This record gives sequence, C-alpha cells and structure tokens, in this order.
Amino acid sequence: MEQLRRTHNCGELRETNLDETVTVMGWVDSRRDHGGVIFIDLRDRWGITQVVFNPDINKETHERAHTLRSEFVIAAQGKVTARSEETINEKLPTGKVEVYCNTLQILNKSDVLPFQLDDTDITENNRLKHRYLDLRRKEMQEGIILRHKAAKTIRDYLDAHSFLEIETPILNKSTPEGARDYLVPSRVNEGMFYALPQSPQIFKQLLMVSGYERYFQIVKCFRDEDLRADRQPEFTQIDIEISFTNANEVMEITEGLMKNIVKTVDGRDIEGNFKRISWHEAMNKYGCDKPDLRFDLEIKDLTEIAGNSDFKIFNSIAKSGGIIKAINAKQAEFSRKDLDDLTNELAVYGAKGMAWIKVTEEGLQSPIIKFFSQETLDQMMEVMEAKPGDYILFGAGKPSIVHASLAYLRLAVGKRLNLIDENALNFLWVTDFPMFEKDEENGKLKSLHHPFTKPLCTDLKDLTEKPEEVISDAYDLVLNGCEIGGGSIRIHNVEMQKEVFKALKIGDEEAQEKFGFLLEALRFGAPPHGGLALGFDRILMMLLKKESIRDVIAFPKTQKASCLMSEAPSRVDKKQLIELSLKSLANLDNE
Ligand code: AMO
Repeated sequence: MEQLRRTHNCGELRETNLDETVTVMGWVDSRRDHGGVIFIDLRDRWGITQVVFNPDINKETHERAHTLRSEFVIAAQGKVTARSEETINEKLPTGKVEVYCNTLQILNKSDVLPFQLDDTDITENNRLKHRYLDLRRKEMQEGIILRHKAAKTIRDYLDAHSFLEIETPILNKSTPEGARDYLVPSRVNEGMFYALPQSPQIFKQLLMVSGYERYFQIVKCFRDEDLRADRQPEFTQIDIEISFTNANEVMEITEGLMKNIVKTVDGRDIEGNFKRISWHEAMNKYGCDKPDLRFDLEIKDLTEIAGNSDFKIFNSIAKSGGIIKAINAKQAEFSRKDLDDLTNELAVYGAKGMAWIKVTEEGLQSPIIKFFSQETLDQMMEVMEAKPGDYILFGAGKPSIVHASLAYLRLAVGKRLNLIDENALNFLWVTDFPMFEKDEENGKLKSLHHPFTKPLCTDLKDLTEKPEEVISDAYDLVLNGCEIGGGSIRIHNVEMQKEVFKALKIGDEEAQEKFGFLLEALRFGAPPHGGLALGFDRILMMLLKKESIRDVIAFPKTQKASCLMSEAPSRVDKKQLIELSLKSLANLDNE
C-alpha cells in the first residue's frame, strides 16, 4: 500500500474539522482498550490527538491496533468525529474531537524504552545516555522550541538595529579569555595546532576595522575549564560589536535585546532601565561581582570598629591589611548545628571559621563577646541595625576570602529566610571593573576581562606604574546573581594596546607572535569600538528556571566534558594519530 500523506498535525484538529477525512502521524503516547474499542493518544511535536479503533468502522484495522505499543510510529487515516459530552477532554486543544481510524499504517515499531517519558524520577545520566528519547519529553521540547524562538527574536531585533550576522572561523589561533584552549592538530602543517575559539573576540574587532560597524553572531565558543552547573565546555554566545560607540550605547542596545528575549521566553514586559553599580560597590556591599539583588541584606564593614577592639584575632587581622565584615541574618533562629554547618560550608572559600553573635532581649550571646568592650559591641550592633532575634555573622581575614565567604552566607541566609522572590527578574549592570587582578597562583597581573579592554586612565603611565588602581571601561550583565554577559569598550590605538601588554608582562616578541595581526590592523584606521557577549545558554537557563545549563542544550556534555550518548571523547585509530603526526601518542597507545 502506498504510504499515506499527512494532512494535519496532532495539535490542530478542532470541531471545525468535523466529518473531514484526515491523516495524522506520530508516536503512540498511550493506548487504552475499552471493551473492544481501542483508544490511542497520538503524539507529535504539535500535540496529541485521540485516535479510535472501532471494529464497526474497520475490523481488520481494529485487529492490527491490538499490536500497537508505546512509541510505535504510525499513520492513521479516518474521519474527524465529535466526542460525546462525557469524553470531552478540556485539557487538550484537540479534546473535543477524535479521529475514527479506517486505515492504519505502522511506520515503525519501538522496543520498550529504557524509561517512561512521563516518569519524573529519571536519573540525569540515563537521560543523557538516551538523549534522543529525553528530548521527546514535553518539558524538554518546550525548552528547545523556546530556544529557537529566542534565537529568532535576537536575529530580528539585531537586524532591525542594522546589525549584520557574520561568521568567524572555528579553527583559530588561541584567543585569550582566560580558560584553556581546545586544540586541534593540523595534518597538513605537521606539529601545528589550531585552537577552537574561546570567543570570536579578535575577529569581531577586526570586522570593525573592516568597516562593518555593527556585527553580531550567535556562535559556539569552546573553553576547557572546570565545569559547574552554569558552564559547558562548548556553549553559545550572542556576540555583539559596534563601532563609534560608548558603554552607554552598548548597554542600551543590550537592554532592548534582553527585554525582547524575556518577552519571547517568559512573556513578561520588563520596564525601565537596568540598575547599574560599580564593581567596587558590588564587592563592598555584596562580596561579589555578580550580586543577586532580588533581596537587600547588605554586608557591613566593621574593620574600623572591631579591628580597634581588644579582640586579638580581629586586631591582628586589621593590622595586617585584612578586613572584618558582617551580615545581619534577621530573625534567623539558627541552631548550634546550623551555625556549625554554615561554618563548614565556608571552608571551600578558605575561611577558617565564622564568628557570630546572637541578639536576644536579654543581651548579646556569643563566645566572642567577652573580648569586646560594651562600647564596641554597641557600635557594632548599631552599624548592623541589630534587633532581638537577629544573628550577626562575621567574616574576618584576607579581603578576597571574607568577600567570597560573606557573599556565600548572604545567599544562604537569603534562601533560608525566604527573602528571594523566585519570580523576580533582577537585571544589574556591574561597571568600572579594575583593569587587572593578581593571579593567586603566580602573583602575576592578569586582565580581569581580556587584554583588549580599554583602560579609563588619562595617563598611560598608570598602566605600568600603578596598574592595580586603573579601572576599565568594562561592564558585566547580571541576572538574579548569574553573570549572563560581559563586554567593554576596546583599545583602538596601537600605542595603548602595547602599553597594556607591557603591564601584563607580555613582551614585544610574544605580543607580535600572538596578536601581531591585531596590532597591525590597529595601525590602518581602526575606529573606536566596543561590544559585549551574552551567554545564550545561561540566559535560557535562568528564564526557564532550570537547575542546570544542560537542560537548555539539546546535546550537552557532562561535568566531565563527555557525551554519555555518543561517548565522546573517545580513542581514535592509530592511523589517525600518525597522520596527525601525534606519533608519541600513537606509541603510547601501543604500550
Ligand atoms: P566572557 O568571557 O565574559 O566575555 O563571556 C561572555 C558570557 O558568556 C557566558 N559564558 C559561558 N556560558 C556557559 N559556559 C561557559 N563555559 C561560559 N563561559 C562564559 C557568560 C559570560 O558572561 N569576548 C568577551 C566578550 C566581549 O568582551 O565582548 C567574552 O567572551 O554568560
């Protein structure tokens, strides 16, 4: 028999189609046998349609319907019929009709699935191993479809703002975004390697030199770094670059773009401009450069007061350049165990302990209050705006450790005390980043963003003479405490670029070898330019309220950067290694 042609999808039949003869195709979602009449919920991307097999319509077709099992793929042709009053399913858009099947074609069978699609308790490993089945689930499909719609919104918005989508190479020279590169050996250039782009940073700048003025790309980037819930080794950026611009304009265009994305994915209108704070204020008040401002709970500085007390530990910390800061966990009702647990959790940030004071109607309680005069305690409690029922939690030591610990505590307390409105979307620009930071491992200066970021100093000498004081024309976009984007105004002047390399101790030769083509391009009329990149997967993860970035990517990698389905990465043939001149590896393989 000739294969039937689909006339309708499974989400579109309505009462207006009554009496039409239609053909629907899809997967058997469920099958019910009601005393001789068989009902199938037939599923495709668009929805579910009920198909009825009644021996009075076609005996042979009804017989064959007995063999149907979950996930068989079928074509069913028959007449659209109104459901009786009591069998109407108000939950389904197609719920007022059903198709009385006359002709059934079984297009493919299915083995029993390794998990039920509607099971809510499937392990993630199982889902990833059979991703093609996991992607059949409604929840996953909705995410993937919204991802497509968001990408379309992005293209439409940027096209309407005169941006051009231009592709940049995947086989590249290394780009300095701070992670390790994924390397690809070259067969024709023995012993040479390409690096996969950590971002298209240099290319988008070169496109500005070439006069394209407004560039964007929805582009894959690759970074070999330790993975977390919001990181993937390959992820997608919405990459943007603009000529003759400034930070304000980049931020305005990005805000418009984000508002459009939110509208598409989440349906909400975001009003007004996004809030902006400086990096310095973010670190001071919230202990991190991506604070979640859905709730207040500011960190207060007690270094002056507590550092001048008789408490020796605080005293020596303050004298040796450390800081003492605290948060007020209002009405927190912590048990001793809660406090111990929090203290243990801080260990990963390098905190050696956590001092605390409990505020009660009868006065303050804590093992440390005996070390302070009443006056000092009063002053501290005033700054902390302490009231009976509150707990004051302290961090004391090296600024980086105190900030990281208190940023963690702030979030932990915010969650525990239900201070966070899970429905809120809090966008925040963090600006005025330091140009450089010290690498904790080797003490060397490194760029906080990347070395092409424009410094905001008037005297270039500051870059080498007091580099740690120089701030940059960079901005990060934060949504509910997650960094969803970052960018900057770039250096377009070759002398300034060289000076920044000098501050980073990148010698002329190294600069020439790594970025010679950029330095040369800057000499040929490079316009002032700037831009940013948004993390597309992260934005979707936040807007769709997913725990993991993997849930918004069709085929993601695990925390160990592997694909459980295809089993990439995998060993390759020795012949391939030899062709790529990876002889030493080939030899190792032999052992
Ligand atoms: P940056 O390195 O800040 O900037 O990256 C921009 C945004 O990309 C997202 N992101 C990631 N998402 C998932 N997994 C990862 N491993 C990952 N790494 C980064 C984040 C981040 O904010 N070239 C510059 C941009 C510029 O200056 O224009 C850049 O790549 O949301």
